Formats: sequence, C-alpha cells, structure tokens
Amino acid sequence: MSQECQVPQDPSQTPRHVAIIMDGNGRWAKQRGLPRIEGHRRGVEAVRTATYAARDLGVKMLTLYAFSAENWNRPKDEVGALMGLLELYLKKELETFVRDKVRLQTIGRIEGLPSGVQRLLAATTAETRHFTDYTLVLALNYGARTEVADAARAYAAALAAGTEKPGDATWECFSKYLYTAGMPDPDLVIRTSGETRVSNFLLMQAAYAEFYFTPVLWPDFSKADLAAAIADFSRRERRYGMTSEQLKPAAAK
Ligand code: FPP
Repeated sequence: MSQECQVPQDPSQTPRHVAIIMDGNGRWAKQRGLPRIEGHRRGVEAVRTATYAARDLGVKMLTLYAFSAENWNRPKDEVGALMGLLELYLKKELETFVRDKVRLQTIGRIEGLPSGVQRLLAATTAETRHFTDYTLVLALNYGARTEVADAARAYAAALAAGTEKPGDATWECFSKYLYTAGMPDPDLVIRTSGETRVSNFLLMQAAYAEFYFTPVLWPDFSKADLAAAIADFSRRERRYGMTSEQLKPAAAK
C-alpha cells in the first residue's frame, strides 16, 4: 500500500458506512473537449475503483448517489445515455459481484426506472443478498424528500391497519419505513467536484455524518483520494451533541 493510501490502524476510526455524491462528470468531459456522456462513462470506471477501494480500506458499506430523482430533468439524450450506462454496468457487474462477494442493494424509487434496469437490479440484488462482509448501495431515482414522503405514506397505512400505534411514533419506529431500513447511517459523506451542497441526499440518515468536500472531479477520484477522506474523518471528534470532556473523561482530568 502506498504512503498516501494509509488509513488509521484503529478500525474504530474507519467509517463503517461511506456515502458519496459523485459530481463533476460533465466538467471532466468539458475540460477535455469531450461530450458529457464520455464523462459519465469514465464516471462508471471511477465507480468500479471506489467499490473495491472502499472495501480494501476497511469500509463495510458504500452508498453511491448514481441518479437523483431530479436528474430526470436533464436533457433526454443524457438521461437515456445514463440509463444505458447503468444497464451495461449491471450486466457486467453481476458476475463480478458474485465472484467478489459484494452485496448489492438499492435505495430510491426503483419502480420508476426502465424495466430492463429493474430486472437487472432485481437479479443482482437477489443473487448477492447473502453476502455480509461488504455492501454496495446504489441510490437510483433517489431523493431524500421523496423518501420521507414515501415513508410517511407507508407509516400512515401501517397506523390505519393497526400494525403501528400512534403512541410508539419514535424515530426508530418511523425510520423502518425509509428506503434505508436496516442499513447503518452513513458516518462519512463525500462530495466531489468542489461543490458544497447536499442535493437532497440522505438528509435524515446523515444527521450525524461527517462531511468531506474535495475539488477532485468524480472520474478522477482514486483510491488515494478515498484514503485521504478517511484519514481526515479519523482526525475528527464526533460528539453527537455531547462535550469533548464527556467523550474523553480521562483526558479531561
Ligand atoms: C454528476 O456529474 C454525476 C451524475 C449525474 C451521477 C453519477 C453517474 C455516474 C457516475 C455514471 C453512472 C453510474 C453508474 C453506477 C452506472 P455531472 O454530470 O452533474 O457533472 P457536472 O456537474 O460537472 O456537469
């Protein structure tokens, strides 16, 4: 492992769940005088790199914001090309995920995706569901506000059916209706390309996440860049509303 890929030795300092807002494909292509789709194509390569880099660095779950609910508003050609790339990616990765024991999960309104993509997602998630060491989560047709609205609707239906009781309305109870039910919250959220927005990504789940922004454009995002983000994370103190002294009582004396 190269010097720049070094991560903390203490596994408790490694984020269990990393979530990435992959941004900058278009700018990467523009800088090279290439069509935007070429940036997305190289972005898929960076997805492959990040998938294995995260696992090598000790991360247990990686969530990638691959297509937002708002991305449908892009030009028709670009949306079509992104769906084509997604289909190609899933066709190629099914075997690889099975071989490498990568569990694939999804979050988002999967039913709104093209039927071919839905079929591939169903097959890949089913065939990899028993792997437990490492999980790749693709956020597809995902928006946090839509997720909350969908969860509220499902929760209201459960209340009406009597499977939930109004008096039990806690976060723990409600969060079972989010797309992320059963998944740990992200510890670290990374956004590439220098933008410092959250863009409707995991708004509830990232309540206590650490954020890391890098100017690197997504197609250039390497294992060393991920290691740098993790190293930065490991130097932070997560207080969850408490004080430093409460977290390190011995050191404070
Ligand atoms: C943002 O770049 C990128 C996206 C629209 C989502 C990420 C998509 C990929 C990495 C390719 C498809 C993914 C899979 C898993 C097959 P942008 O176009 O907004 O860049 P810009 O801000 O520079 O224009």
